[in-house]
This record gives sequence, structure tokens and C-alpha cells, in this order.
Amino acid sequence: MREKQRKLQLPEKLRWSHNEWYRRWLLRQLPSQVGSALDVGCGLGDLARSINAEEVTAIDASARMIERARATSDDVRWIHGDVLTQELGRYDVVTAEASLHHLPLREGLTRLAELTKPGGLLIVIGLYKMATPADRAMELVTLPANALVGLAKALNGTGGKPHDAEMPVVMTAPALPEIRAVAAEITPGARIRRHVFWRYSLVWRAPKFISSTNDFGLSSDV
Ligand SMILES: C[S@@+](CC[C@H](N)C(=O)[O-])C[C@H]1O[C@@H](n2cnc3c(N)ncnc32)[C@H](O)[C@@H]1O
Repeated sequence: MREKQRKLQLPEKLRWSHNEWYRRWLLRQLPSQVGSALDVGCGLGDLARSINAEEVTAIDASARMIERARATSDDVRWIHGDVLTQELGRYDVVTAEASLHHLPLREGLTRLAELTKPGGLLIVIGLYKMATPADRAMELVTLPANALVGLAKALNGTGGKPHDAEMPVVMTAPALPEIRAVAAEITPGARIRRHVFWRYSLVWRAPKFISSTNDFGLSSDV
């Protein structure tokens, strides 16, 4: 993946942040009123700061990211920790922008689902590995569009900022068929869409009632 990405990279001046592009889309998916929100793998906190909610919590495993994010705002509860193990509670909205591929997929998605309150909303913008003919067809649109947006941004002076040099990145991601299969088990009913610029979205409304089996082996709603 790293070698392929290197070949497809635009010159520095034409590069731009695909995560920032999808942040606006992600924010549009939020309900007009949100009680509590959690942003997972918040990096420098740009998304967390933009979420309009009564309480926003943001977690990142990188001490440096949290230190820098904390310096930008007191309105967010910043947590330095691993989302997989940190005590966090549950939230009306959980977001993960370009962070799910940093976690083992099944474990990571299970954790994001657990963190979402019954009736709450999970929104993921993720990266996926190019693996299928449909992925390659999408790339035929993505490659020229990437260059055109990069050019437009360079001309209006907002280009050349693909991502922060200190931001942890990983160069592997699961393929979309795997993501769809795991999501069908863990977040059934999730809407998963492929987007341009090497991204997909997953939007899942957690069921209001979680069906479970009680001590007597009978199914009950809890
Ligand atoms: C590519 S960055 C994305 C940052 C930010 N969401 C954005 O879009 O600008 C992925 C972030 O996930 C964080 N991360 C990776 N593994 C994590 C974990 N187990 N728990 C919490 N954060 C994690 C990394 O430290 C990194 O800041």
C-alpha cells in the first residue's frame, strides 16, 4: 500500500487533506441536538472542536496529539488513552474520522458500537484497501478529482496541507468487503458507502433495546 500510495502522490503543493474534506460531510450527519459526543482517535481535535453537543469528549492514544489538542480548547474533555481499554461510558454520538483502520477491525468496531448509547449514532469515515474492480473504477474518478481539488486549493492558497507531520498514520487498512462483512455482524443495518478520495462511510443507529438472553436462557430486552 505504501509503495502504491507513493506512486499516486501529487507534488507537495497540490496535496490536501481528504479527512478535512469529509469532516464537513460527517458534521452534516449529526442531529441538530446532541447531548454527549465522543470522537475516537481525535488527533489534533479539529473534528471534536466542531461538534455541536452539550458535552464533547475526545480520545487519542498519542500523548503528543492530546497535548496539542488540549492547548486549543477547554470546551472538550481530552483523554490520552487507548480507546480499546480506557473506561469511557456511552455517548449519544460516537465519531471516528480516519482512525478505525488504526485498530483491529472486529475489535475496533465492537468497541465503537459498545460506546454508542442505545438509540445513539455511530459515524465512521474510514480508509479502505483497494482490492476489487469497483475500487479501481472509483479510482478512475478519484485520481483526476484529487488533482483538480489540489490545484484549486493551491490556487486559492489552501493547498499543501495533507496532514500534520506529527500525526500518527498507518499504511494498512482492511478491504471494503471485509468491512461490510464485519459490520453486518457487529453493527447490523449500518449504511456503508464508498466515497471518492479513498474513503468510505459507515453510519449506524444503535438499537434502542438490546436483546439478550437472561440467566434462564430466555430472550429479554434490556
Ligand atoms: C490518521 S489519525 C486521524 C486523526 C483525526 N481523527 C483526523 O482526522 O485528523 C488517527 C489517530 O488515531 C489515533 N489512534 C490510533 N490508535 C488509537 C487507539 N487505540 N485509541 C485511541 N486513538 C488511537 C492516532 O494516535 C491518530 O491520532
